[in-house]
Amino acid sequence: MSKITGVQPAKKYLMINGKKVETDRYASLFSPYSGEEIAQIAMANKEQTEMAIEAAYESRHLMAKMPAYKRAEILEKVVSLLIEKADQAAEIITRESSKPIMFSKAEVARTVETYKFSAEEAKRIHGETIPFDAASGGVGRIGYTLREPIGVIGAITPFNFPMNLVAHKVGPAIAAGNTVVLKPASQTPLSALFIAELFEEAGLPPGVLNVITGPGSVVGEEIVRNDLVSMVTFTGSPEVGIGIRSRAGLKKTTLELGSNSALIIDKDTDVDQIIDRCIMGAFSNQGQVCISLQRIYAHEEVYEEFTEKFIQAAKQLKVGDPLAPDTYISSLISKGEADRVLGWIEETKSTNASIAAGGSLRNGVLEPTVITNADHDLKVSCQEAFAPVVVVNKFSSIEDAIKHVNNSRFGLQAGIYTNNVKHALFASQELHVGGVIINDVPTYRVDQMPYGGVKESGTGREGIKYAVEEMTEMKLIVWNNN
Ligand code: SIN
Repeated sequence: MSKITGVQPAKKYLMINGKKVETDRYASLFSPYSGEEIAQIAMANKEQTEMAIEAAYESRHLMAKMPAYKRAEILEKVVSLLIEKADQAAEIITRESSKPIMFSKAEVARTVETYKFSAEEAKRIHGETIPFDAASGGVGRIGYTLREPIGVIGAITPFNFPMNLVAHKVGPAIAAGNTVVLKPASQTPLSALFIAELFEEAGLPPGVLNVITGPGSVVGEEIVRNDLVSMVTFTGSPEVGIGIRSRAGLKKTTLELGSNSALIIDKDTDVDQIIDRCIMGAFSNQGQVCISLQRIYAHEEVYEEFTEKFIQAAKQLKVGDPLAPDTYISSLISKGEADRVLGWIEETKSTNASIAAGGSLRNGVLEPTVITNADHDLKVSCQEAFAPVVVVNKFSSIEDAIKHVNNSRFGLQAGIYTNNVKHALFASQELHVGGVIINDVPTYRVDQMPYGGVKESGTGREGIKYAVEEMTEMKLIVWNNN
């Protein structure tokens, strides 16, 4: 990756109550690909985290009273600022996460849409009228519901979409009139701080969006336990998510957790039509996507053709510098993650599985890896790989294929390619997941759709309208006209 020489890594502060706040401890942030130091990040302590929560708490009335058109205007201004600075934003994502620049540009474009949807949703937060006279005790009464902001939202975001998954929490929170304390992932704070500056420029009042960087054991813990926080919205691993749920008390929680998402390829599928989508599904962002395509079940009649073409395509992908315009695969987020996945690949070698492509590091980057004939209980099959690793197996009946997909701790999204309407309907009914994607990979997502899972994939839904529902409380008003 091209280095910036002779430039001191920028010092990045906490953002509390509209001010940049120093700490007594800073940690170096390194590029996962080149190892270059790219910034010095403030490590907040418990008191600073409390200050941020108090600032958000103090601002909650001001935000709750801000009219919808004004909240929409601020979000629209963020949209136009981000469009202006899109190249800079994409470069920030790539430098801190090693996401190949083509995918960072796509993430910025999605972030723009996420804030656009948020601006629109701010103007359509409705309640409903209740037919009170449907009950004998309700005659002569008129009633309706309102949706009110919930208050302070603690947002804990992951490294894999450091700009758009921040937008999925901050956008609907502001749209609904809430205030936010945001803890971005330790490896990717720069995207979040960049967005916070855009909000400031767009006129968001001080205290409404506070960004606290630092260790999860201090910052995350305070956000989860502090009584001034009304809701925690988290995207990350099931282990951390389950811990949050158990410590959050009566706070609302939205948890977007992991998956080992699967795809069924039915017997009538035109294999040539789907290879590019399967490559994108399995390998975009190095497989570090909660809905990354990790398990493929291909009907025995198309298995050979699919596997051969998919492996060839995987071998063609350009591996290397994330800033190069044609790089498809770059470094995982850390060396520790690469070592973990290499261990999982190693485990397959003493079984009947075959490593048909990749399986090793090339200049520190894990090659796109395709494993065939992998047993269900291997880690590459039954746990979340979060890496460019995909297993391909055969099935002979649609019932069996669905059983294989459902045989998982997770249930986020699943895909099925089929021309058989009955199979599509059967899969929609039987797959135990938050979303069934027919004739595309499970990795499909646009930002207004409901997104979330069942089982260990989490609780609650994102997608702006659905997140706004989670981030508001229903209030009932009843008039007695008797
Ligand atoms: C995720 O990894 O949960 C987000 C996937 C996406 O937004 O495409």
